[in-house]
Amino acid sequence: MKDYKRTLITCALPYANGPVHIGHLAGVYVPADIYVRYLRMRGREVLFVCGSDEHGVPVTMAARKEGCSPQDIVDKYHNIIKNSFRDFGVEFDIYSRTTSAVHHKNAAQFFRKLYEEGKFIERESEQFYDPEAKVFLADRYIVGTCPKCGAEGAYGDQCEKCGSTLSPEELINPHSKVSGAEPVKKKTKHWYLPLQQYEGWLREWILEGHKEWKTNVYGQVKSWLDGGLQPRAVSRDLDWGVPVPVEGAEGKVLYVWFDAPIGYISNTMELLPDDWEKWWKSPDTRLIHFIGKDNIVFHCIVFPSMLKAYGDGFILPENVPANEFLNLEGDKISTSKGWAVWLHEYLQDFPGKQDTLRYVLAANAPETKDNDFSWKDFQARNNSELVAIFGNFVNRAVVLTHKYFGGVVPEAVKSEPVDGETLSQMAGIRASIEENIENFKFREALKEAMNLARLGNKYLADTEPWAVAKSDLDRTAAILNTSLQICANLAVAFAPFTPFSVKKLCGILNVSPFGWDDFGRTDLIPAGHTLNKAELLFSKVEDEDIQKQLDRLETIRQARLAAEAEAAPKVAAPKDACTFDEFEKMDIRTATVLAAERVPKTDKLLKLTIDTGLDRRVIVSGIAEYYTPEEMVGKQICILANLQPRTIRGIESQGMILMAKQLDGKMRFITPAETLSNGSSIG
Ligand code: MF3
Ligand code: ZN
Repeated sequence: MKDYKRTLITCALPYANGPVHIGHLAGVYVPADIYVRYLRMRGREVLFVCGSDEHGVPVTMAARKEGCSPQDIVDKYHNIIKNSFRDFGVEFDIYSRTTSAVHHKNAAQFFRKLYEEGKFIERESEQFYDPEAKVFLADRYIVGTCPKCGAEGAYGDQCEKCGSTLSPEELINPHSKVSGAEPVKKKTKHWYLPLQQYEGWLREWILEGHKEWKTNVYGQVKSWLDGGLQPRAVSRDLDWGVPVPVEGAEGKVLYVWFDAPIGYISNTMELLPDDWEKWWKSPDTRLIHFIGKDNIVFHCIVFPSMLKAYGDGFILPENVPANEFLNLEGDKISTSKGWAVWLHEYLQDFPGKQDTLRYVLAANAPETKDNDFSWKDFQARNNSELVAIFGNFVNRAVVLTHKYFGGVVPEAVKSEPVDGETLSQMAGIRASIEENIENFKFREALKEAMNLARLGNKYLADTEPWAVAKSDLDRTAAILNTSLQICANLAVAFAPFTPFSVKKLCGILNVSPFGWDDFGRTDLIPAGHTLNKAELLFSKVEDEDIQKQLDRLETIRQARLAAEAEAAPKVAAPKDACTFDEFEKMDIRTATVLAAERVPKTDKLLKLTIDTGLDRRVIVSGIAEYYTPEEMVGKQICILANLQPRTIRGIESQGMILMAKQLDGKMRFITPAETLSNGSSIG
């Protein structure tokens, strides 16, 4: 790795439309904070930048829902998020926001330069528009009846009842969430960054030049590049965001994913108005983006292309150690469903236990695959690792020193080989922690730190100073001196991970914080030094505390199940009466499927060739979502044989297959209980 002068570390700017939860923390902020603390302890020049991402449609949606302005929403969450990071010990050099004046100016300037240099293409397209409210509608702003399950209130991009992905065109009876009017299509102009022009360069820079990136990141980039890049719109029709700073762009703002990453730069400018460029434009600066996996494309493809287009010496990320997702008690974390543990609530429910959460999240960080957070595991890791290993070791060493030596570090007069052998293992632990942190393997690094505490415990168990003290105080002195050196080294090893406890530990040991280079030294606490009184580093997490959290989640789960049951499609409403004659007109018969194939370029249609007993014919049926062609061949089905032929996708369809629609919306064909001769008439 090239030797850089300084490191600029960014964390994904959290959306200010909700508080931060443990998924964000485990994926992004805890790893980044560990990394930053480590580099700072090594005396490296580091800048740690973050802030709230305050634009975008979800903010306007939240404002509408809560009956307030978008600014109110972002003010509320920006403050919650900012304070919770501070109280959790994530120490950014700046935590600003994308509604700041500096950012608006900078993002607009960024756009304008690209615009003036012809780096964008302009395109007109048709978008849905609310003719009453006179606004363009994002997909989420269009609601209607789900064509799949019949639920009301399905969104233009998704039905939350049945989970189907939709497009606004598919909705039955679509209407605007803003005014209720039926949306119409209207032409609108937007600017696009022609990403395809950067494809070759991206390939060379990442696929050739950064094979060391994490496989999840490298793989995602490769599949995007292999899939071919398309122009990406950088503007939106919306009244919340950075206005597009060119003429003829009234009512248009920069797309939130265009302005937000520029926020990293703006926030640096805000902090260092005269000195920001050395962080962004010097080849001596190493830029690292900490993000979650859903942000990879933006940080590895889009933002770098923006910077490349801009030129002017902007550096590119040296690494993007993106993490996968953290689940909660086996289910995907969801802000909208309330399935989350919010940082600000955790801090209230577990005062003084920041390090427990930091430790558990680092130990479970979803570094290579999705991982799970459970409250039982949280309790177990606190009680049987932090309390029983780390805390217990420190406590025994300090208490015994008080007991036998009045709290004064005794001289190691009567050493034995085991002392030196134990202490000499610290070098290996240090090297392993360094190697792992520098390669973004924080879980492994943390394990190694805990191994140092294990080493201490084993040493005490092997040497038994409490027993030795009965006959040999000189030997006891050496054992406790050795143990206290390990305690001091623990204050180094754990400092990036559990800063609150390390501060407490330094208080107990009566020392100022150590630097990383002190790690491995065996004279960190000199003989004659007086300790402060023993205090427990960690306290237990009680069953009641865990039960309270589990109960809260159970309430949310029950509420969700009830809402789902409520929303579940019911049996179809009865139809109007029909006469016997009307029924008699229908020629329903048994038939057998002889051949089946997908209708090209459709997702839903199968072309079936069937034997009706009367003839062979073709029926085009919308069942491809429910059956593969292979599943249909050879099956006996029931058909309406005298339905007027219709041409579907250029194929004449002669009849209809009788299907039953289940409560969950799934369609199944009707088959006789025993095989009948084809053409048996049903009635
Ligand atoms: N707000 C985005 C998210 O939470 C992250 C934005 S990162 C930035 O997924 F680069 F755009 F700032
Ligand atoms: Zn649906």
